[in-house]
Amino acid sequence: MPSDGFCFVSTWSGVHAVRTPQRPVCGSVGHAIPRHRLWRRRAGVLGTQASTVRSEGTVSVTAPRRQQGLIQHKREAFWFYRFLSLVYDTVVNPFHWTTEMRDASLRQAGLEEGRGRPDFKVLDVGGGTGFCTEGIVQYVSPSQVTLLDQSPHQMQVAKRKPSLQGVTFVQGDAEALAFPTDSFDRVVSAGSIEYWPEPQRGIAEAYRVLKPGGLATIIGPVRATNPVSRFFCDLWMLFPMEEEYRVWFTRAGFTDLKVSYIGPPAYKGIRQHGLIMGLTITGRKPAPGEAKIQLGPMRERLDQSKPMSLGERLIFLARWILGCIAGFYYFVLPFAIMLYAAIFIRDSKRANKEAA
Ligand SMILES: C[S@@+](CC[C@H](N)C(=O)[O-])C[C@H]1O[C@@H](n2cnc3c(N)ncnc32)[C@H](O)[C@@H]1O
Repeated sequence: MPSDGFCFVSTWSGVHAVRTPQRPVCGSVGHAIPRHRLWRRRAGVLGTQASTVRSEGTVSVTAPRRQQGLIQHKREAFWFYRFLSLVYDTVVNPFHWTTEMRDASLRQAGLEEGRGRPDFKVLDVGGGTGFCTEGIVQYVSPSQVTLLDQSPHQMQVAKRKPSLQGVTFVQGDAEALAFPTDSFDRVVSAGSIEYWPEPQRGIAEAYRVLKPGGLATIIGPVRATNPVSRFFCDLWMLFPMEEEYRVWFTRAGFTDLKVSYIGPPAYKGIRQHGLIMGLTITGRKPAPGEAKIQLGPMRERLDQSKPMSLGERLIFLARWILGCIAGFYYFVLPFAIMLYAAIFIRDSKRANKEAA
């Protein structure tokens, strides 16, 4: 088994999904991992910085777990980014969402098909400060890209970036995309799904606006297996399991699902605490039109102008403050992991060497 490199595996929890199992393959050179060791590896130290796990298969499902995180609300997310936008590129990217991770995820999005094709349109949903969009414009001209985000503050940062001059900026809601059906060749969304109160609705919208044959790629968090971290991630926002992503994509009507796992160097390959950016899923829209799934009325709207009663204000404030505290855990986590790795992982490597 390789000590580093890529890890290609197919996993299934059996809790929410039953999937045609595939033979797991691990390592950039294609080593096999026995299935019983996969969970141990996923929960523990993978020994790789940007480890990738791939799986494909058909899914038959029961309803995904659903509880809503404190910041997984539109008003809360708006105010969260009112402040985070000031430091987003400085505090989030180096520790949670690096250029290497972004470029690996975008390779799965099939953007190279758009090279030299001016008619090829890409939508970046929840594009924020434009970090992912900067990766997209390495494939297609900025004039072919639309960045949509609910936060004008985040988009202000993106609008100032020289490489994004020519991109179309739209303030809007991932759950109600203001674009015609069958209009984009690619939809990409990085690190945004965790704020959507109804992730299924956002994915159904991505499906709707894609042209037939188009690909949607969502990059998002992965739920912690460690109980303490699971408490904080669930309290903060949405950290789905792979099966949940698969369920949402399948229900929307996507086919040919591809899943890969990413991780930042700061996590030292440790995945048990969950990751803010941990998984990339891509699906193909097989036919024109709307998503297969029919959804009822939208639960929350972006509209910030609706007056709140005193009770609503208090609930909002309590949720927002508690949510920010839970989020702070993930701000500290990479530093704790780096410290842990410096003390224990180096020591255990040295002990192994000495024993050998
Ligand atoms: C973690 S940032 C990711 C930004 C960017 N995609 C990147 O790669 O760095 C999440 C973004 O999703 C946006 N967002 C959250 N909920 C949204 C919604 N319902 N509709 C549109 N954007 C949303 C936030 O405003 C924020 O800019």
